[in-house]
Amino acid sequence: MRVLLIGGSGTIGRRLLPALAGEHEVIVAGRNSGDVRVDITSADSIRSMFEQTPDVDAVVGIAASGPLDEFDTLDEEQLLANMRGKFFGQANVVLIGQHYLNAGGSFTLTSGVFADEAAKGVTSGGVVSGALHSFVLSAALELQGRYRVNVVSPTMVEDSADEFGHLFPGLRAVSMADLVDRYVECVEGTATGQIVRAYG
Ligand SMILES: NC(=O)c1ccc[n+]([C@@H]2O[C@H](COP(=O)([O-])OP(=O)(O)OC[C@H]3O[C@@H](n4cnc5c(N)ncnc54)[C@H](OP(=O)(O)O)[C@@H]3O)[C@@H](O)[C@H]2O)c1
Repeated sequence: MRVLLIGGSGTIGRRLLPALAGEHEVIVAGRNSGDVRVDITSADSIRSMFEQTPDVDAVVGIAASGPLDEFDTLDEEQLLANMRGKFFGQANVVLIGQHYLNAGGSFTLTSGVFADEAAKGVTSGGVVSGALHSFVLSAALELQGRYRVNVVSPTMVEDSADEFGHLFPGLRAVSMADLVDRYVECVEGTATGQIVRAYG
């Protein structure tokens, strides 16, 4: 398969890359890194990425996280800014990508544990991930028989535990090996409309 890995240079992406590259041709896309440059906050940039990368069978999106927030000062603009990066960016990868991907191809997106488990400072992150879950359910139905669409929802990953673990006491990290397996299953398997919870 020819796989387009958006965010392939990041913490999760750089672990997934070798696992996919053993079996598939992988093209890495990133904002400042990779084989193709893309800013998923821009629909034009996403379109340009697909134009530059024809004949793709699978797209994996692991890009664009949002900052932590303070609930007492959180406002509509901040929520929207976070939605723009991680939610609209990934939704647009599917909405635009459906016109480029090879028939029978798949989209695998990335959300996160805060869709299901509240924690302080991640209201935006939770809302964004919850929206991604709902989007994937609808997209899978709409694209049934044409494309598969799934979302992997990681908890904090092992490689981020040193940096973020103190912010989320009690949150057990998922091993990179387990998480990578979940993405590979989405790319190589037959499932669609799945919210794959990689919660350790
Ligand atoms: N790490 C965790 O513990 C964890 C847990 C749950 C969920 N997640 C989610 O998993 C995703 C990836 O996390 P990560 O820790 O691997 O992030 P990361 O280390 O910050 O890497 C992000 C990657 O995405 C690319 N990127 C960022 N913004 C982009 C944009 N607007 N357009 C195109 N590419 C963009 C970056 O490219 P450049 O480097 O070239 O800029 C980089 O390759 C995020 O959505 C995050 O919320 C992460």
